[in-house]
Amino acid sequence: MDAKDIAQDFEHVLFTADQVQDRITELGAQIDADYEGKELLLIGVLNGAIMVMADLSRALRSHCTMDWMAISSYGSGTKSSGVVRILKDLSTDISGKHVLIVEDIVDTGLTLSYLVQNLQSREPASLEIMTMFRKPEAITTDVDVKYVGFDIPNEFVVGYGLDYAGRYRNLRDVGTLAEHVYR
Ligand code: IMP
Repeated sequence: MDAKDIAQDFEHVLFTADQVQDRITELGAQIDADYEGKELLLIGVLNGAIMVMADLSRALRSHCTMDWMAISSYGSGTKSSGVVRILKDLSTDISGKHVLIVEDIVDTGLTLSYLVQNLQSREPASLEIMTMFRKPEAITTDVDVKYVGFDIPNEFVVGYGLDYAGRYRNLRDVGTLAEHVYR
């Protein structure tokens, strides 16, 4: 769906589907160059990163493998719960591999900080992070995100994999919802 399909629920578009795709293409080229001669293992964080993973992996011009993890974060609200729990672990052994975590959005950085610690202990050859969106608070945390799609204001956004109460992940554009949706 596009923003115009849900005009009554929508407040404003931050990034159109085309802007998101253009940025993914740029990041893909940068990642290809940085990992030249190395095979990447992309680890997607479910459920939000599904769209980023699908597009970023196809933007790469070199081989990669993919695996997935699911971690608890917001539940159905818009504030971080502070509770981090593995709901689904990886299916593969990452030791000795070049791992790139693929995230939808970093807000407090709580989820990522836990994930990085957890994955580092499995001794990958390298571990970096890519996120499509980053909120201001994330910059103040100690988690070093190498690839950032867009820095965004401190607003709750939906679309391109990002949900509110399970909905709007299939929205092509990215933007904010009208106040009445949260009531
Ligand atoms: P953090 O642990 O506070 O960095 O939150 C990261 C997770 O919270 C993301 O992977 C998302 O699932 C969720 N999240 C944070 N901000 C937003 C938002 O604006 N829209 C939708 N989900 C969000």
